[in-house]
Amino acid sequence: MRLLIVGNGGRASALALKLSEDSRITKMFFAPGNATTEKLGENIHETDIIALRDFAIKNKVELTIVGPEAPLVEGIVDEFKKVDLKVFGPTKKAASLEGSKSFSKKFMQNYGIKTANATVFDSYVEAKEYLQKQKFPLVIKASGLAGGKGVVIADDLEEAEGTIHDFMIKRIFGDAGIQIVIEEYLQGFEASIIAFSNGEKLYPCVPVKDYKKAGNGDTGPNTGGMGSAAPSPEFTDEHFQDFLQNIMNPTVDGLKKEGLRFKGFIFFGLMVTKNGTYLLEYNMRLGDPETQVLLPLLENNLVDAIEDCLNGRELELRFKDKKAVCLVVCSGGYPKNHETGYEITGAEKVKNSQLLYAGADYRGDRVVSTGGRVLNLVALGDSFEEARKKVYEDAVPVDFDYGFYREDIAKF
Ligand code: AMP
Ligand code: GLY
Repeated sequence: MRLLIVGNGGRASALALKLSEDSRITKMFFAPGNATTEKLGENIHETDIIALRDFAIKNKVELTIVGPEAPLVEGIVDEFKKVDLKVFGPTKKAASLEGSKSFSKKFMQNYGIKTANATVFDSYVEAKEYLQKQKFPLVIKASGLAGGKGVVIADDLEEAEGTIHDFMIKRIFGDAGIQIVIEEYLQGFEASIIAFSNGEKLYPCVPVKDYKKAGNGDTGPNTGGMGSAAPSPEFTDEHFQDFLQNIMNPTVDGLKKEGLRFKGFIFFGLMVTKNGTYLLEYNMRLGDPETQVLLPLLENNLVDAIEDCLNGRELELRFKDKKAVCLVVCSGGYPKNHETGYEITGAEKVKNSQLLYAGADYRGDRVVSTGGRVLNLVALGDSFEEARKKVYEDAVPVDFDYGFYREDIAKF
């Protein structure tokens, strides 16, 4: 079997590793891939969705899995389906649940999905006027895709006004900020739940804790994710029942009624408050770094699970009775400004965890950093203590200039 995996982060490496256990797979292409995927398959330097479609036809790709949001929102699944290529991911229409925060907020409101109260604005003047009467903190979101940077928690009126000016007038995220969502600030802890969709039903995985802030103790700016732990010990069975009843089941209902059925992954970004569990956002894909801890825990064969979904069959997900931890090692300065091009050494000294490259590529025999999140260390254990000891010990010999990581991942 020949596969194409679209993506280049640690998530693509985790997919590569899980899929490499499947002896039926004879070839894996990664677009554009990284230093890990290059060793497990073939990297192709292509991101254009039409070029990828043509590549898949020419190279007899039998299944495509799409990692990142941008090609999904652009309609890669629709393009592949037009020519009968098998692909796992949401249609362009369903991907709008991630690509447009105003669309997803309206969807949540229409189907009684528990979410923060919010108002959508197309007019800067009206948004500014609205802000004058609000209490702070308040959350301001660019409606479109902004690479995970389009959400600002404004602590006072001045910051809020500056933010809407940046989004709507200065257009720091281009068209993504033409429309904004202003919503109430929710206090609590976050959890990520990723589910497989077979077009009819959703099959949730175990909850994951993603560490979003750059600094120890959840300080500093938001990032793409500094580490993850699963199953999240904070998210109890009670929270899970609340999630099923007030978020997942009404979502299934809404997907059907709005003609948004799809076969792919859906990610629920949750905030657990003292008033229950709220949905902050949908991502219509696997999370990064959530995937890095979910896939090693998943007992099912991934291709079988995906094919069951594509064929509309029932799914029974099974997870190992273990704890999984992922530590993300970043370039100095991430997420604000960072430099790349530094050589990564010491990978051969990693003993008890799995090293997955993310923003790192081969230059000849050397591996050099190419992004903000450079590599991941992933380990399983009978306890979080055991798993975190493995990743932190293995992080010591792995070295590149100005690299850093959080010290408190999976410290419960
Ligand atoms: P989103 O892309 O909507 O998930 O927002 C990114 C991050 O901003 C979330 O993971 C939260 O950390 C934070 N956030 C978003 N919405 C809210 C909210 N209503 N209250 C508090 N924090 C939020
Ligand atoms: N870890 C959050 C995301 O993948 O968007």
